[in-house]
Amino acid sequence: MEICNQCEDCTKLCEIVPKMAGVFKALGDLTRLKIIYLLTCDTTGTLGVSELASRLGISQPAVSQHLKTLKSEGIVDSRRDGFYIYYTINRDRMVEFRDNFELMYSSVMGRCNRELIRKSSPDQEIRACVIYYSYSGVTRHIAEEIRNASGCDIIEIRTKKPYSSFSAYTTGVFRSRKMACDPIEPDSIDVSAYDLIVMGTPVWAWKPAPAMNAAVQALKGCEGKRVVIFTTCCNQPGEALPILKEALISRGAIVVLEISLTSEDTKNPDAGGEILRRIIQAEPFGDTTKTPDSEEK
Ligand SMILES: Cc1cc2nc3c(=O)[nH]c(=O)nc-3n(C[C@H](O)[C@H](O)[C@H](O)COP(=O)(O)O)c2cc1C
Repeated sequence: MEICNQCEDCTKLCEIVPKMAGVFKALGDLTRLKIIYLLTCDTTGTLGVSELASRLGISQPAVSQHLKTLKSEGIVDSRRDGFYIYYTINRDRMVEFRDNFELMYSSVMGRCNRELIRKSSPDQEIRACVIYYSYSGVTRHIAEEIRNASGCDIIEIRTKKPYSSFSAYTTGVFRSRKMACDPIEPDSIDVSAYDLIVMGTPVWAWKPAPAMNAAVQALKGCEGKRVVIFTTCCNQPGEALPILKEALISRGAIVVLEISLTSEDTKNPDAGGEILRRIIQAEPFGDTTKTPDSEEK
C-alpha cells in the first residue's frame, strides 16, 4: 500500500497499518503469546523447541509451527549452537511495533478527541487558543495535540535570544528563580477574541520558564477570561503552577484548571487528549466560584 498523500499532515499511518496486521495476526494466538511469555522470562537464552514443548504441554511439531509464524514476522530470533537451536525475542522488532502502535494509537485518539469536543459543545462554538513556550519540544508537542484535536488557535512564545543547553541551565535557571520575564516574541498577545485560553510551560528550577512569565505580562484583553494552565516537568513541578496562577489572577484572568504533567505523563502518546478530557470534565464555563480541579488526576 502506497502513502496516500491525502492527509494534511501525513503520519505515514496508511503505510504502517498494513504492516502491523501480520504482527497482530502472529500475536493473536494464545499459544504464541505463551511462547513469547516463556521467552521473556528466560534468562539463559537457551530455550529450544523441546523445552518449550514440555513447558507448554504440546507437541514439538506444534511448537515449531508457532515459532515459524513468530519468526516470519520478525518477533522471534533463533541462534544455532551445535545441534541445538535457541530462540529469543527480537528487541528491535518489538521497539518498531511499539512505535507503530503508538502512532496508530495517537491518530485514533486524535479522532476520538475531536469527537469528544464535538459532543461536549454541540450548540456553542468555543473560541479557544493555546499559548505555550517550549525549550526542548515536550510542551510544544502537547500544545499541538490540543490544537489538532480542537482546531483552536495556537501561539508559540519564543525568547528573542534563544537559550543554548548551557545558558538554559545557568542564565535560564537564574532568571527563572528570580521569576524574571525574558524578552519574547510576540511581545503582545491579544486574547480578547477568545472564550478559553490554555497556557503551557516547562518547569525551570521549580518555577515557570521566564518566557512564560513574560507571556502572562504580554496578554492583552485577558480580564475575566477563563484560563487553563499546564506545566511539563521531569518530576518536580515545585511552585510553578501556583506562581503562574497568581500571575494570571493579578492580570484579571480566571484560572479554571491547573494541570501538572511529569515526564511519565508526557510519555503518553495522547497527553494532549488527556488535557482536553480534563478541561471538558472541569466544565470551564460553569460556576467559577467553585474550587478549581487542581493536581489530582
Ligand atoms: C533549565 C531547565 C530547568 C529545569 N528545571 C526543572 C525542575 O525544576 N523540575 C523538573 O521536574 N524538571 C525541570 N526541567 C525539565 C523540564 O521541565 C522538562 O523536561 C519539560 O518537560 C521540558 O519541556 P519543553 O521540552 O517544552 O521545554 C528543567 C529543564 C531545563 C532545561
